[in-house]
Amino acid sequence: MTQLLIRDLAQVVTPSTGQAPLRGRDLGRVEVVENAYVLLDGDRIVSVGPMTALGALTGSREELDGRGLSAIPGLVDCHTHPAFAGDRVHEFALRAGGATYDELLAAGGGILSTTRATRAAGQMALDAFVARHRDAMIAHGTTTFEGKSGYGLDRETEVAQLAAIRDAGGIPTWLGAHAVPPEQPGADAYVDWAIREVLPEAAAIAVAADVFVERGTFDTAQARRYLEACRQRGLALRLHGDQLSEMGAVPLAVELRARSIDHLESTGADGVAMLAASGVVAVLLPIAALYLGRPMPPARALVDAGAAIALATDFNPGSAYCESLPVVCTLACTQLGLTPEEALAACTVNAAHVLGLDDRGRLAPGLRADVVLLDATDWRHLAYHLAGDVVHTVIQGGQVVRGPA
Ligand code: NIG
Ligand code: FE
Repeated sequence: MTQLLIRDLAQVVTPSTGQAPLRGRDLGRVEVVENAYVLLDGDRIVSVGPMTALGALTGSREELDGRGLSAIPGLVDCHTHPAFAGDRVHEFALRAGGATYDELLAAGGGILSTTRATRAAGQMALDAFVARHRDAMIAHGTTTFEGKSGYGLDRETEVAQLAAIRDAGGIPTWLGAHAVPPEQPGADAYVDWAIREVLPEAAAIAVAADVFVERGTFDTAQARRYLEACRQRGLALRLHGDQLSEMGAVPLAVELRARSIDHLESTGADGVAMLAASGVVAVLLPIAALYLGRPMPPARALVDAGAAIALATDFNPGSAYCESLPVVCTLACTQLGLTPEEALAACTVNAAHVLGLDDRGRLAPGLRADVVLLDATDWRHLAYHLAGDVVHTVIQGGQVVRGPA
């Protein structure tokens, strides 16, 4: 295996070595090594340290000049919806004129308008769309992404979405309970049908299941039925909860020991306390709050209470049309009251934990060789440079996939 030495980096930065998911003060503890190197061998990290500790190396290796750059772990986007056709620019304009997200969905638009386009697309087109969004994520420093289905809402298209995500290198989540499609008589009947007709095939591809608990989509009884059936098939459980209203999704997530509950823009003090006392990770999606003009989730309260948090883009055509985790980091620092250190841990090691991947998210010997080089001598430009061009080079599994080859 060829070794790759990234030398003379201004900084090498990694979240602390505590047990994942990092909570409380541990979330904000990063290690910064100045004038440093990272040594990779194949798809693994061999060592990380100051240049002064780099002993004589034997054998052949490639070298990357890290002068003027800083290194962080590859970013992990643990919540995206990249498998869709069409766009919602028309609804974006309507919302700019005052229409609301839930009104558009209730009128048969929103998720359901994307469902119409996605059903008509076919596997090859879906593959191409997911690959395009995956490439945009890589350009912004994302080396691992999760992707959800949920725009098919019929067997063939749900499975096609999951396959497209898997084949693009993503971690597939079956969002079978995203909305009720028009051909189904109601949410109860749809959940029963999806469990019977789609779950067996979805469970062969997906690693997790997800449900949108909200007024007009699925209530907690329907969500419980769906999630319990998915768990029996070996899927990890996740929920979209408390986005527009508090509907009991937090107690359900805690009771079912879900991997995560995502959104939480409407979560109050009781929900914060409940999550802090649980193992459920709160996945915060500030782009969705910004995009829909909703309140930001109570990130600071969650961290201070001891809850585990992660950050993600929620990339999708309706509520968050943006593939950039650096933008999420800027919003975390300006809108959520998090520090750059907390933001970094939340979209690396903690996000990887949500996906059940404890082999990445930090720069340490033995972990996957996913490294992002930033075009800055201070790594905090990641969050500081709003929508800036801060990602210089992306190394995924030891391969340079973006930047100087
Ligand atoms: O996480 N809220 C539900 N699902 C997505 C939006 C999907 C869409 O609008 O197309 C979300 O925001
Ligand atoms: Fe989402």
